[in-house]
Amino acid sequence: MGSQLLSTIEHRKVLPESYIRPESDRPRLAEVTTDSNVPLIDLASPDKHRVIAEIGLSCRTYGFFQVINHGIEEELLEKMMAVGLQFFRLPPEEKEKLYSDEPSKKIRLSTSFNVRKETVHNWRDYLRLHCHPLEEFLPEWPSNPESFKEIVSQYCREVRQLGLRLLGMISLSLGLEEDYIEKALGEQEQHMAVNYYPQCPEPDLTYGLPKHTDPNALTILLQDPNVAGLQVLKDGDHWIAVNPRPNALIVNLGDQLQALSNGAYKSVWHRAVVNAARERMSVASFLCPCNSAVISPAAGLVGDGDDTPVYRSYTYDEYYKKFWSRNLDQEHCLELFRS
Ligand code: OGA
Ligand code: NI
Repeated sequence: MGSQLLSTIEHRKVLPESYIRPESDRPRLAEVTTDSNVPLIDLASPDKHRVIAEIGLSCRTYGFFQVINHGIEEELLEKMMAVGLQFFRLPPEEKEKLYSDEPSKKIRLSTSFNVRKETVHNWRDYLRLHCHPLEEFLPEWPSNPESFKEIVSQYCREVRQLGLRLLGMISLSLGLEEDYIEKALGEQEQHMAVNYYPQCPEPDLTYGLPKHTDPNALTILLQDPNVAGLQVLKDGDHWIAVNPRPNALIVNLGDQLQALSNGAYKSVWHRAVVNAARERMSVASFLCPCNSAVISPAAGLVGDGDDTPVYRSYTYDEYYKKFWSRNLDQEHCLELFRS
């Protein structure tokens, strides 16, 4: 039923009713500010101790940071964006073939967030791909546009390397062994969402993605370099816009790192808003624990004194099913796993 895709419809002058949020749940864009202190970390800095300290501080206070000099070539970032956009510009018949609203499907084109569960829709289409091990999934990926597989697989490989490197630094920043998190998460899966937010007639009334936290371990987001849209919740009470910065990637912690760090690091609330003048793209890469990994607070972080485990142990499989059984804009899914 591809007819629900926004990207197959030419023009809309008013927002269809099913996308309109109730008054109390609108983005209130006029109140969003731009924070000039959004953490920016230069991964090529020679002072490794300082980089790790900065990562630790960002994870504790913001729950996200931006990285530059991350090792992924500018040209590859541009190609990834371009081929994503080409994909969404394919004729409706082409896209129809990939459409599904079944969350467990490993390769699917869909719309909004979870059309089977939600009451109000979101102004987004997305292509969701499993990406690891690549050889297993690549044959099923779209072969149109022609260069899609080649570009996206290269991007996935490089993002994975970066993600694992970041997990090492995050481990160190918590005072754990460098390979602690990577080992605790098992052979990690990697998923990708290529998000397409069409131009929207009434951006004050809806979301591209409403407030949510990511259920996985670590997310690396490539933003449209020309159109802002990502906003994160700061100090639990105000939204800040994370405006695009050339060649930077945004790294946000997911729920599993909040659990592993026993709540010390924040899986940040974030959302995507839409734009009346322009379409917007983003590419989110999610590193996920392997399904059988048992997630619990790192042994070195709980024990004496007040540091009792905040969350009970669970398998990622259990967590992920719970996450997708709900709508997005509810309480933090981790709240359901408190010990
Ligand atoms: C996501 C996400 C933000 C964006 O895909 O989980 O939060 O700016 N995307 O598209
Ligand atoms: Ni997200």
